[in-house]
Amino acid sequence: MYKQDCPCFVPLALAGGQGKSTVALMLGRILARKGLPVLFIDADPQASLTAFLEVEPPDDHPTLLEVITNGEDKVPLYSAIHPVPNEDNLFIIPATDQLENANHYLAASGMSLTILKQRIYQVGVNIDPEYKITRNFAMVIIDPPPERSHLALTSMGAGTCWAIPAEANVKGVQSLVRTLDLLKTYQALLSNSTMVGVIPFRAKWVGLNPTKTTKESITVMEELVGKELMLPNLLESDIYKRAINEQVLPRDIGKEDLEYPITSLLDKIQPYLSPDVTSIINNHELTR
Ligand SMILES: Nc1ncnc2c1ncn2[C@@H]1O[C@H](COP(=O)(O)OP(=O)(O)O)[C@@H](O)[C@H]1O
Ligand SMILES: [Mg+2]
Repeated sequence: MYKQDCPCFVPLALAGGQGKSTVALMLGRILARKGLPVLFIDADPQASLTAFLEVEPPDDHPTLLEVITNGEDKVPLYSAIHPVPNEDNLFIIPATDQLENANHYLAASGMSLTILKQRIYQVGVNIDPEYKITRNFAMVIIDPPPERSHLALTSMGAGTCWAIPAEANVKGVQSLVRTLDLLKTYQALLSNSTMVGVIPFRAKWVGLNPTKTTKESITVMEELVGKELMLPNLLESDIYKRAINEQVLPRDIGKEDLEYPITSLLDKIQPYLSPDVTSIINNHELTR
């Protein structure tokens, strides 16, 4: 059990193919590799993260749909948590395509922003802090859907910190603009949460130079959020696709340097981690 509740990290982007699932997966894997338990929540009805982790929820096992549409008394949060096969430190509340139905429920509830946050942090549940889910994981990572839906709102609302991955091209810039606009719309209701940075995704370099499209789009991104919020580029690379498919990290394919944008992201999230988690990370760094 950790001293403090863990943060909930959400990669946000209002378009497909921006790197949300990739960033979620790799950040979780890096933490798990340090011996830290991570709870993924798949909030996308396309269920990419559930598929990446090769989790197949049995029909009688609750998924995120049942968590959102029921209270803790009927579907306790722990009952929806699946272990990830062959991983000691990874767990997931999975999605199926049925999750789409949660959008209707959320729309009718009028509480999209708060429902998932309250379920994750077990607000109003009479429970010894020691048994709280958020005291037993180092981080919760939500993988949201790509469109401006109620599931996207509930994912955003649950976040302690967000990052925005954005493809290093015109589509990525447009997605960043729409995502920043969404955060601005709800700013007053999200004052306890922080945007930690923008991650240019699939940045293309030829030798020592970025391609024209990559360079121009990153310049526009910088103008939109300011230099201090720009995280290192996640490079276009088949290694990432291989790592996803082979259930490993780029370091396992001999390309640890490709993980740099994810470890930089972790540095940005460090202040939100429980102090005992931070000390595990730092000790791990020293002994590695
Ligand atoms: N570094 C990379 N270079 C090229 N393609 C990548 C890289 N990392 C991930 N991909 C691929 O990009 C696609 C989109 O990424 P994904 O994370 O699924 O985006 P999103 O969740 O925002 O829709 C995926 O098919 C993934 O395999
Ligand atoms: Mg995705």
